[in-house]
Amino acid sequence: MIVFVTVGSTKFDALIESVLSADVLQSLQARGYNTLVVQCGDSQANILENTKGQATIVKNGVVCEVWRFKPSLEVEFERADLVISHAGSGTILEVLRRRKPLIVVPNSSLLDDHQQELANELSKGTYLVRSDVGNLGPTIMSMNPSELKEFPPFCGDRFRKIVDEEMGFC
Ligand SMILES: *[C@@H]1O[C@H](CO)[C@@H](O)[C@H](O)[C@H]1NC(C)=O
Repeated sequence: MIVFVTVGSTKFDALIESVLSADVLQSLQARGYNTLVVQCGDSQANILENTKGQATIVKNGVVCEVWRFKPSLEVEFERADLVISHAGSGTILEVLRRRKPLIVVPNSSLLDDHQQELANELSKGTYLVRSDVGNLGPTIMSMNPSELKEFPPFCGDRFRKIVDEEMGFC
């Protein structure tokens, strides 16, 4: 099974470091994920030094493909069995519409962020799982993707205001 990690084009060093840590990779492996595809955007990734923006390693039994930018995110969302992402609203809504299990990790140093608010609301509704950088391994171990609710094909009142503000639609 495939996990896709994206921070969009943002810089989120701690999330990239976390997903490539032994703790998280062991958790992924234990839950049956054997391939990790990472789009690290602007984040620091030692593995990409002296490369043309793409490198693959095998660590803790998981094949880790790290990209600065993937040519097509749609393809990755579509083939992923689990997505782990920063709290970008566009990414969140796109993944939920594709009915893919999603773990959102907000960057806590970006205070007063509407995107975090959206992640919190959707996690309360159990449409996604919210985690943080230090707790990703345990989150992967304890989450049950089949317990997540399917995102409604319409914009429910519960999210209308927040989605409106963030995305300018509904
Ligand atoms: C959070 O975002 C800022 C701005 O993009 C970035 O500089 C910082 O590295 C990020 N925080 C972590 C913990 O990675």
